[in-house]
Amino acid sequence: MTNHPGGVDGLPEELVAKFDRELAEVLKRYPPDRKGSAMIPALRIGQRLFGHASPAVQALAADRLGTSPSRAEEVATFYVMLETHPTGRHLVEVCTNVSCSLSGADQLYAELRRRLGVEGGGTTADGRITLREVECLGSCGTAPAMLVDEEMHEQLTPQKVDRILGELK
Ligand code: FES
Repeated sequence: MTNHPGGVDGLPEELVAKFDRELAEVLKRYPPDRKGSAMIPALRIGQRLFGHASPAVQALAADRLGTSPSRAEEVATFYVMLETHPTGRHLVEVCTNVSCSLSGADQLYAELRRRLGVEGGGTTADGRITLREVECLGSCGTAPAMLVDEEMHEQLTPQKVDRILGELK
């Protein structure tokens, strides 16, 4: 990890300082010799501050937690809630597992792809929305469900999806 005048490994200095402050709060809940166990929250802080858990963010988290960048990469590439590539300003994740599928999620997802002009995992040309299909969101009883920027939306209907999309700027 190198500190350049413009920031740490190209990351803006002021955001790195914010990352350090937020991570320090998280680390109060971990024994000092178990800092490495805070990799998921560290990467999630980095993702929120820097846009995604890029290799530079992974290196920063690894450095602060006293572990290797490869350990950070393992975690960043394993969990679906961690983005290793840039996404749109909003992330729309549609569950298409059994309960949601039986409740119309496939049609909703197909309509979303058509309307946004993207395939699964794609981002709209204006950078507004990244759309993707995900596994069960744990809302099977109120299917179909989708996450928008980590906010759960349930019992979706085409009208409800229209309204939600309309609110994304
Ligand atoms: S199957 Fe969609 S939330 Fe469980």
